[in-house]
Amino acid sequence: MSTVENVDAKAIFLKSYPKGEPQPAHFETRSIPRPTLNDGEVLLRTVWMSVDPYMRGRMRPDVKSYIPPFSLDEPLDGGAVSEVIDSKSEKFAAGDYVVGFAGGWKSLHKASADAMTKVDPTVAPLSAYLGVLGMPGLTAWAGLTQICQPKEGETLFVSGAAGAVGSLVCQLGKKRGLRVVGSAGSAEKCAWLEAEGGCDVAINYKEHRGSAALTRALAAAAPKGVDCYFENVGGDHLEAALNCIGFGGRIALCGMISVYNATDPQPGPPNLTNMIGRGVLAKGFIVSNYMHLTPDFIAEVAPALAAGQIKFRESVYDGLENAPDAFAGLFRGDNFGKAVVRIGPDRL
Ligand SMILES: NC(=O)c1ccc[n+]([C@@H]2O[C@H](COP(=O)([O-])OP(=O)(O)OC[C@H]3O[C@@H](n4cnc5c(N)ncnc54)[C@H](OP(=O)(O)O)[C@@H]3O)[C@@H](O)[C@H]2O)c1
Repeated sequence: MSTVENVDAKAIFLKSYPKGEPQPAHFETRSIPRPTLNDGEVLLRTVWMSVDPYMRGRMRPDVKSYIPPFSLDEPLDGGAVSEVIDSKSEKFAAGDYVVGFAGGWKSLHKASADAMTKVDPTVAPLSAYLGVLGMPGLTAWAGLTQICQPKEGETLFVSGAAGAVGSLVCQLGKKRGLRVVGSAGSAEKCAWLEAEGGCDVAINYKEHRGSAALTRALAAAAPKGVDCYFENVGGDHLEAALNCIGFGGRIALCGMISVYNATDPQPGPPNLTNMIGRGVLAKGFIVSNYMHLTPDFIAEVAPALAAGQIKFRESVYDGLENAPDAFAGLFRGDNFGKAVVRIGPDRL
């Protein structure tokens, strides 16, 4: 059994807000005080932490958002899977594993037991609770089922298709009998998407630069037009999707990672008017508004995962000090599947 004494108490602090791409100089690893527990709290050793694109939005204090910005000279925070090493709650005992939206970017932390959910390492690897069985998985499932609402035989286009969210959207789409077209930024990612990741056609968008070239590639891959677009990227991808979208098309606006590091306001697509005549519905969404559907999501994805019908990939970074690089890598396409950081071993 691990004890608090042999766990470092460290955290990554935000030193300054990035302008453009996040750089190592924006972050600093510092020691933090060892937490003391109050009733109802648990002491947690972080085992895996998540880096997610939404964290970039929390580094823009000037932009109004659904979640407050990170404060400078404070530890960053985010999703993590942790081991309970001390408990003042009847809900958890030392040795339990929990997942929650807190504990990332730290090696040791405390939390209200009510904010944590127990996870079972025999059902899936612990890191999967940050990806395919976690927040990105629910995002994929909710955007597809609640907004796109595809019907068998339709065509689904997914941008960011080889990432944590996109790779599950593609596979859930294939499972529903859709023609699935994905886009990703390397030949290796596209080969995997076509071999295992549920895509009928995967487009390497770096070989089709600009909205005109991307539109041609998408039109060729989706000869009957696009019925559903799962938007993760924005920019040229949205413009190409709007060129190819069919009558009654649905767009799940999940993310637009291509603009997250932009230093100037970015123009919208010039072809938005296509939505009018084609009766297209586009809806933005935030996964936290779909948490109540977690049981439905798990009921579909967990058995399919266990049966090997759903595949997932991870890019693993080792050590808390490598978390900033893992985070910055999201905007360079370094990750293939879910980017996770291993903070410590599963068991000490
Ligand atoms: N609405 C919500 O509640 C919610 C929740 C989770 C995630 N999201 C959004 O979903 C999207 C995917 O998130 P994720 O966690 O699954 O991340 P991810 O796809 O695993 O990682 C990000 C990927 O984005 C691609 N990318 C980065 N910059 C790009 C650019 N300029 N143009 C095209 N592609 C680019 C890269 O892949 P390539 O190699 O293909 O370029 C990179 O691997 C993001 O937009 C995120 O903000 C939304």
